[in-house]
Amino acid sequence: MKIIKRVVDVRKETKTLRKDGRTVGLVPTMGYFHDGHLSLMRKAKEECGKVVVSIFVNPTQFGPGEDLKKYPRNFRRDCKLAEREGADYIFSPSAEEMYKPGYGTFVEVETLSKIMCGRTRLGHFRGVCTVVLKLFNIVNPHRAYFGEKDYQQLVIIKKMVEDLNLNLEIKSCPIIREKDGLALSSRNKYLSGEERKNAVILYKCLETAQEMISSGERNLEKVKSCVLERLSKNRFVKKVDYFDFRNTATLEEVKKIKKAPDEILAATAAWVGNTRLVDNKIIKI
Ligand code: PAJ
Repeated sequence: MKIIKRVVDVRKETKTLRKDGRTVGLVPTMGYFHDGHLSLMRKAKEECGKVVVSIFVNPTQFGPGEDLKKYPRNFRRDCKLAEREGADYIFSPSAEEMYKPGYGTFVEVETLSKIMCGRTRLGHFRGVCTVVLKLFNIVNPHRAYFGEKDYQQLVIIKKMVEDLNLNLEIKSCPIIREKDGLALSSRNKYLSGEERKNAVILYKCLETAQEMISSGERNLEKVKSCVLERLSKNRFVKKVDYFDFRNTATLEEVKKIKKAPDEILAATAAWVGNTRLVDNKIIKI
């Protein structure tokens, strides 16, 4: 596995791979790997001849006062884990390599980046889209892999690819969870023991929503208030940013199930102690 820091060098490599008829898969990450990240690499390796994993804690997607400085990092461990999954390249540029002095171009999917997580994390998806488009242009992959854990991010990236006629395929991978149901996340490291035990309530609420809908409840406002009440009773949940039901393709809000769609997205973001967690579940109807 080669470790590459420079844009020109990874470009040269993937250009040669393409010329040799190889399929190039890209897994964009911010590092500090857990099994969620590794599942993306595994799928990429199954489907592509060569796999590039990028590790870059992207400053433009963090707002002022967010956790850019303390975001967990462990580059050596990440390299070992990626190599074990069969990654062929790690691309880990510096912030200066990605954003030269005077950098001035940003990409935004305007409609979708202002709802859900975008309501409180202003500019977050603008930063995500900008860095992901840069990575697509640098690596020039045939396919790129994203997790359903960040469902809004996935939909936004698909929309950017469609809107800007980008020539690659976006592949989505299911959420990997702990045994008790908590979605794996690099930010789980911030949780204290008690917070960790209680953080599973997010998943439990998504399951409750599924159960209520499966047993015939069609008024989603009712499901929502039931779930919000449960969350408000847990003293480790400091704040709920949202608990929404959304169309799985467009992210439009769904308030009532009228003529049955096959599925809807239940998605939530909440603060457990000082840590903001997101989770979601595709609810089958
Ligand atoms: P990061 O949080 O490191 O996540 C990298 C990828 O791993 C994302 O596609 C994310 O959805 C996926 N992932 C995280 N936890 C997962 C889980 N429990 N199960 C399945 N997949 C999971 O998302 C980012 O980085 C950044 O925003 C990035 C796209 C790299 C742009 O900077």
